[in-house]
Amino acid sequence: MDIIEVEGLTKYYKKFLAVDNISFNVREGEFFGLLGPNGAGKTTTIRILTGLLKPSSGNIFVTGIDVRKNSVEVKSNIGIISETANPYLEMSAWDNLMFAGALHSLSREERRKRAEDLLKLLGLYNRRNEKVENFSKGLRKRVAIALALMHDPQVLFLDEPTSGLDVQSSRMIRQFLRKLNENGVTIFLTTHYIEEADSLCDRIGIIKNGKIIAIDSPENLKAQSKKKRTLEISFENTLENIAEEIQKLPNVKLVKKYADKFIIHTDDISETIKELVNFASKKNLRIVSLNTMAPSLEDTFVELTGLSSLELERIEQIGKMRKMKM
Ligand SMILES: Nc1ncnc2c1ncn2[C@@H]1O[C@H](COP(=O)(O)OP(=O)(O)OP(=O)(O)O)[C@@H](O)[C@H]1O
Ligand SMILES: [Mg+2]
Repeated sequence: MDIIEVEGLTKYYKKFLAVDNISFNVREGEFFGLLGPNGAGKTTTIRILTGLLKPSSGNIFVTGIDVRKNSVEVKSNIGIISETANPYLEMSAWDNLMFAGALHSLSREERRKRAEDLLKLLGLYNRRNEKVENFSKGLRKRVAIALALMHDPQVLFLDEPTSGLDVQSSRMIRQFLRKLNENGVTIFLTTHYIEEADSLCDRIGIIKNGKIIAIDSPENLKAQSKKKRTLEISFENTLENIAEEIQKLPNVKLVKKYADKFIIHTDDISETIKELVNFASKKNLRIVSLNTMAPSLEDTFVELTGLSSLELERIEQIGKMRKMKM
């Protein structure tokens, strides 16, 4: 079942076209990422999907609810963590959660149970009675995540959840999101970190200038790259002219020897693996290692968005700086 359905979504800010006729679906239980550079339209899209912003045109259904018509109703099925989401600073983590629980009409008992579970899972339980203003950015983000989950939503939306956080906080949040997804919560996040999208998402939509220019699993996106996959093989024993022999196998384009490894360029990885195994067994060679070397998601991203790696680095830096100011 598709838990998010977006068709022809378009958003103008006055005359500026920020989101340009995008369509995509997200399946129930999926971990979906919208990946794109600064200004691509990620925040605009996520705000529209969560009913916080009206689109100029298009249809959006989330958990079967028409978001344009029922932006309040949909909120009981979703959790939202915006870029600037902040708990009340003058309240403790615990009181923040009690307050959110009350807003969602949870019983006193439910509120306490839910808050306790979430705070423990997010490593905040020991600090539950401290005011949030004493918390670091990473801890505040964790409180924001707990707040968004108090009512046990089916879908969690996160806008750049780890932007500007240190490695440890980011990792903690990613691990938590993975677990949450394993427990059946559908996750929709935006990010400009390619590795983050690669390591978390079942599918990624790449957005640029308000358009989705590719949408697929990370591995399929990598396979789209013009850079070809290669194979790397090494053998325990050796034989004269191995490279020349491998070169003769069908599908093999090029063989290079590096140290004790052979790098093989081929048009058909799967066939070549079979042939290599065959070849080794015929020649009495023992394979020590056999790896497929894939192009990275960054290769595809750079090719699709037309950004150079250098520009990409700059975007990540600017993103970090901007978010630190807030
Ligand atoms: N309220 C607004 N009024 C006018 N233009 C806006 C407004 N909000 C966003 N924009 C413009 O729309 C485009 C998309 O913005 P959006 O915030 O959705 O991008 P983003 O992908 O979230 O970028 P970032 O990575 O910087 O968060 C940008 O060019 C931005 O300047
Ligand atoms: Mg944004």
